[in-house]
Amino acid sequence: MNSTPEADWLNLLIGLLQGAQLQLLRVLDALGLAQQVHGQPAWPWARRLSGENLLIDLGQARSLAWTLACMAVALLALLVGLFWRRRRFYALALAPMLLIAAPWPDAHVVLVPATPTSFQSSPTGFTAASIAKGRVLYAQNCVACHGADGKGEGPLAVSLAVWPPNLSGPLLWRRADGDLLWRILHGTRDAQRQPTMPGFAERLDEADAWALIDYMKAQGAGQSLRALGNWPQPIGLPDMAVRCGAQPPRWLASWRGQRVRVVAGDAAPAEDPRLVTVQLIQPSGAALAAADCVADSPAAWEALALIAGTDRLAGTQLIADRDGWLRARGEPGKAGWSDDDLLCRSERTTPAASAKNAALPADGLGALIARMDAEPVRFVKGGFIH
Ligand code: HEC
Repeated sequence: MNSTPEADWLNLLIGLLQGAQLQLLRVLDALGLAQQVHGQPAWPWARRLSGENLLIDLGQARSLAWTLACMAVALLALLVGLFWRRRRFYALALAPMLLIAAPWPDAHVVLVPATPTSFQSSPTGFTAASIAKGRVLYAQNCVACHGADGKGEGPLAVSLAVWPPNLSGPLLWRRADGDLLWRILHGTRDAQRQPTMPGFAERLDEADAWALIDYMKAQGAGQSLRALGNWPQPIGLPDMAVRCGAQPPRWLASWRGQRVRVVAGDAAPAEDPRLVTVQLIQPSGAALAAADCVADSPAAWEALALIAGTDRLAGTQLIADRDGWLRARGEPGKAGWSDDDLLCRSERTTPAASAKNAALPADGLGALIARMDAEPVRFVKGGFIH
């Protein structure tokens, strides 16, 4: 509805680049040619193709797309030349011409420095327990420079040559998760190769670093919500154990593919056929009435309070879409849903489109769900706004 053709092809291009590099690494690994670093196969080269830069530089992205198309046709021409004897000359001549004519993009935009863990992905499943673990590690190791709120204003920050960045902005989403892991474990350096942040590999292992990344994302979401009133970067619904009646506990993520609503507090929410409803009970509180499905771990309460940027979570409702992204928040005490509750929305929505949506029928939740479904979260891999 709101998606421009541009967004579609760019998403496709970035997905293609990411997927191709990942597959290459898998093949190397299967052949036994990739080393293992921090528990997963390591990227063997110093550079990689960058999705992040293409999002910023649309001109270069277009050049790259055309160049890839030229390369594909050139390859096809070579194949034709191999098998079609009579036209061999034309087919073989076409290939180099296409490669010369292709609008090659700037290498320094398309290729960026890689780390051995660039293509590694988090094994944590973004669980509430992992966020809780990250919270403790952050307080012990990172707060002195990065500050309790992640904005980079810790007590040690003034004494550093480089000011720590704001971790609650878009930075974490612009970087590949694997690159964040590498920087936490091995530190960062400036252009003159001088260390700017120390590495923590001697004190922390990769499981710790992945937990820290989960925590920083959750914290960043909460900070954005406090400062801007929305989630400009997509944030997932943390996974947690849920009990439904007498059945054995299951993970919240096992409902992926369906919309999920988490309602925090002691009062049982009404069920709704459009959503899976889970009641999140405050660890200290006793449930006055329990819904069919209940989560009650202290870590789950803490994680959602962090993401919702509030100390008073009770009464808050959070809705995740079918892909597991948190999209909407209902504030405590507010009856009904409105368009404003959609906190994670597309940047590209035009005013006309919003006006149309605002005028949808009186069922606020229905309109919200319709918008949520029509505007899926994009560009997550490239690490940018959706
Ligand atoms: C001694 C101060 C200090 C400590 C302690 C510290 N950092 Fe940093 N951190 C920095 C500075 C300075 C930068 C900016 C580095 C740069 O841009 O070159 C930074 C950058 C980062 C970045 C952004 C990296 C990027 O890709 O641009 C992340 C993520 C990060 N720190 C996480 C952490 C975590 C997690 C911890 C705790 C385990 C931690 N930091 C501890 C000073 C610190």
